[in-house]
Amino acid sequence: MESTNQFLKPLTAKRNDAGNLEIGGCDLVELAEKYGTPLYVIDEQTLRSICADYKKAFSKYQKVNMMFASKSLCTMATSAILAQEGFGFDVVSAGEIYTVYKAGVDMSKVLFNGNNKSYEELNLALELGVGRISVDNFFEIDLLNEVAKSHDKTVDILLRITPGIECHTHEYIQTGHLDSKFGFDLTQIDDAVDLILGRCKKLKIHGLHAHIGSQIFETKVYSDEIGILIKEIARLDEKFNLKLNEINIGGGLGVKYTDEDCPPSVYDIADVLVESLENNIEKFGIDSPALFIEPGRSIISTAGVTLYTVGSSKQVPKGKKYVAVDGGMADNPRPSMYQAKYFAEVANFKEDLPLQTVTIAGRFCESGDILIKDITLPELFEGNILCVFNTGAYNYSMASNYNRVQKSQMVLVNNSKSDIIVSRETLDDLISHDVIPDRLK
Ligand SMILES: Cc1ncc(COP(=O)(O)O)c(C=O)c1O
Repeated sequence: MESTNQFLKPLTAKRNDAGNLEIGGCDLVELAEKYGTPLYVIDEQTLRSICADYKKAFSKYQKVNMMFASKSLCTMATSAILAQEGFGFDVVSAGEIYTVYKAGVDMSKVLFNGNNKSYEELNLALELGVGRISVDNFFEIDLLNEVAKSHDKTVDILLRITPGIECHTHEYIQTGHLDSKFGFDLTQIDDAVDLILGRCKKLKIHGLHAHIGSQIFETKVYSDEIGILIKEIARLDEKFNLKLNEINIGGGLGVKYTDEDCPPSVYDIADVLVESLENNIEKFGIDSPALFIEPGRSIISTAGVTLYTVGSSKQVPKGKKYVAVDGGMADNPRPSMYQAKYFAEVANFKEDLPLQTVTIAGRFCESGDILIKDITLPELFEGNILCVFNTGAYNYSMASNYNRVQKSQMVLVNNSKSDIIVSRETLDDLISHDVIPDRLK
């Protein structure tokens, strides 16, 4: 069965009677006029649809818990929607903890991840009642134990491990060890457990946590990951008499940025995962653990688009035609950071205009600020609105103020209504943290 992460565009995207592109019943040319550009647009129906896919696909395994990886997009409104859909949250900083807390999320359904959590962040996590902490390294075991003692609380933890699976979009390798900054190597788990059971009375281990990569198109990697986690659970029980009943397999499921991408359906992933769980539970003779999954990109990417206004253009003699838009690497750093590819359409009605192959350039002062290389679109003119698809994940959350440009606004659309969920920064916001020391005045 198809799932929403397999679509290039939001489910509600279509051309309306005026010939303009619309999403969530809102004409994108009108949205651009009303709110200005660049503008992030999130389609609520698409977001809720992928949540429904995940819930339905995994309903065959009773002890399943969905967590949303906040790093892909962390705003109060989207967090509130995801909480309504029954999701917990994977967070990686005080800022993400605070955002979901202020959004009214049930903090017992929050897991705090990260390879270098600070004392202050761990303190905040305990103060606000974060449900699980994924302990990443030996340094953190001691640090967290100290924080737990100062709160006189027992802290519920998972151990983050590197299972030796490395995946890229189209291939993966399994090794004994992985050169990764995250988590305990398989050969270090026993020392970590020994340390916690022997010395850290305030830490209670519930299970193991791993994350094997992002924009994954394979299903077998997940069944292998489950096999490794369950084998470790059985081994730790035998060696330490430690009963672990949770496994968290991270996120990573891919999305369709361009026609070349063919991500698997959430339903196929769920089948593979549940089959692997059942087989491995039987093989290693353990009780069924609770399964936690923490997807980010596959939940929020397809629901998001970014609108830009076309400005200048340049035809290089005997070379490319560049068309510049009013955003770029500061609102979407992915193309310049790792050559990510995107698909776009002109939102305005274009009656039988000739097609041209152009390169969409950003407005920032870097030659590498190119949003899309060589895309074929109807001829573009200054003032046209360009809609770039699949920008819901790792766009706003990675945005910067490079060139002192204000971060873009975000609106949520549904049933022909649009609401601002992140307002545009002002010029005063940009200088609000600047200080001129007295001696310079
Ligand atoms: C620990 C962990 N969980 C979940 C995710 C979310 O991954 P994705 O957005 O690919 O689903 C990440 C992404 O880096 C991660 O590091």
